[in-house]
Amino acid sequence: MVAVIQDVSQMHSTAESLRSAGKRIGIVPTMGSLHEGHLCLIRTAKRHADVVVTTIFVNPTQFGPGEDYERYPRDLTRDSSLASLAGTDYIFAPERDSMYPDGHVTYIHIEKYSSILEGRSRPGHFQGVATVVAKLFNIIKPHVAVFGQKDAQQVLVIRQMMRDLNYDIELVVAPIVREADGLALSSRNSYLTAEERKQAPVLFQSLSLAENLLREGVRASVRIITEMSEFITSRSSGVIDYISIADNNTLEELSTIEGHSSVLISLAVWFRATRLIDNQIVKV
Ligand code: PAJ
Repeated sequence: MVAVIQDVSQMHSTAESLRSAGKRIGIVPTMGSLHEGHLCLIRTAKRHADVVVTTIFVNPTQFGPGEDYERYPRDLTRDSSLASLAGTDYIFAPERDSMYPDGHVTYIHIEKYSSILEGRSRPGHFQGVATVVAKLFNIIKPHVAVFGQKDAQQVLVIRQMMRDLNYDIELVVAPIVREADGLALSSRNSYLTAEERKQAPVLFQSLSLAENLLREGVRASVRIITEMSEFITSRSSGVIDYISIADNNTLEELSTIEGHSSVLISLAVWFRATRLIDNQIVKV
């Protein structure tokens, strides 16, 4: 059975003894409310490590004012048994005050990505993500860390931070897990009404539409974005936050796909107060 650790210093010392025993430690950072997407990351981690630590922490510093920090679903008992069945050896689920005790004033700011796409819509979000991930890395000192392609920009932010701050950790990226109708699994899908849930696959469908246009030889981003946007608004009540076609490594927005062998198409769409994101890397 999985061991649940809530205390930072206990996690520190457990990780230290695992390291001394020569174990390769894998970490899967999550905010809980686990679904099949998270469980795939855990299974992937198990293939890359001897011991898997799944972290469950709804990180306050990555939520903006008015976002869903308070109502984010929390169920440690359910999460522990799911994580355990998927191969987790230790769950690290710290309390808010032990991660951010009074007087915590140090944050990691990643310049390049903080103000574009997700960063533009959610000011401060990536600073919160980078800070908590750095803290988890320092507490657990993993050999390998697994993240999901679902949050494509988050992967680039973490990769940049690892490079810039010399983290000696292998980064493994796992593919997006989807429902049968294409909707990417997300803890936030539970906020959708039945009607919105029916419409939500438009995100994935619009990505497939973009992929088809690229395959047909369309190269102008504006044409692809316009068609995606018309597709979404004509088939759902979703309100588009952004649709982007960007370089897959730098996130630089591209006006034409000409000269690029693979691009990242990403989007964020509001269904009332619920914001859904999705993306696809398309090899041209
Ligand atoms: P959370 O949204 O819980 O996601 C945890 C991990 O699961 C992330 O790496 C995310 O990309 C991955 N994930 C979520 N849905 C997925 C899906 N449908 N398919 C594959 N992977 C999926 O991302 C966070 O938490 C936080 O920002 C965190 C990194 C834990 C820092 O607080």
